Amino acid sequence: MTEIIDGKAVAAAVKERVKQGVLELNEKGITVGLAVIIVGEDPASKVYVANKKKACEALGIISEEYALPESTTQEELLALIAELNRKKSINGILCQLPLPAHLDEKQVINAILPEKDVDAFHPQNVGRIMIGDFDFVPCTPAGIMEMLEASNIDVCGKTCVVIGRSNIVGKPMGMLLLHKNGTVTICHSKTRNLKEICLGADILVAAVGKPKFVTADMVKEGAVVIDVGIHRGENGLCGDVDFENVSKKTSFITPVPGGVGPMTIAMLMQNTLTAAKKQNALPE
Ligand code: GUN
Repeated sequence: MTEIIDGKAVAAAVKERVKQGVLELNEKGITVGLAVIIVGEDPASKVYVANKKKACEALGIISEEYALPESTTQEELLALIAELNRKKSINGILCQLPLPAHLDEKQVINAILPEKDVDAFHPQNVGRIMIGDFDFVPCTPAGIMEMLEASNIDVCGKTCVVIGRSNIVGKPMGMLLLHKNGTVTICHSKTRNLKEICLGADILVAAVGKPKFVTADMVKEGAVVIDVGIHRGENGLCGDVDFENVSKKTSFITPVPGGVGPMTIAMLMQNTLTAAKKQNALPE
């Protein structure tokens, strides 16, 4: 029998912890503030931003939303980031991606002060993840590590396979598993013997972006399978994993919805609290 990892429950525990942490700061007269910037009208981005705002409100984090029109120029966006970098009441800055095509994403990420970069997308924070000396971890891989820990899954010595090499998920995921002494392989669209590599995995993380890409014949009996994907199909939401068949072989598996998804916002809240503590020279 597989155990289904309940992302909602793990996220609720993280959020409760953050809420307590925010309260403790408030008692010292310190507020915690997150600025969320959204440019344009992308419907999925709007939903994400609304959810982030709701989570802030529930945890006592002050959220400031900057909804900018599609026509916003690079200069205007950079000017807003510079202003938020200086603003004492703002501890974290998040610019929702993707940005409209005329804006330079890389320049925007570089403009956010690393101390306020709660997404951990700035090259300085990316580099710090690489050397294992980091304050912030991108929310999705951070959430996955939290779920593994909550399920008492020890990574040490395990064969870990990550499918997907994005800067947001695949690469930092691989590093975090490596820091926990996993033996890590990162696969991608050019990987030749993907099925064989996946079959060797004790822990398999699917961040491919293709519905039901991971099938039962790719999964070892007793493996832990983490599904990062989210796709809207005819029969509702599904992930990168063929849950129905893969779950017959796994020891642990995350569902979609209700798995990795709820964790990402919880970890963003945690990063924002960490930012506030660091900026006020308080221990974590
Ligand atoms: N778009 C999709 N996921 C994310 C995320 O984690 N952070 C930001 N800034 N944009 C996103």
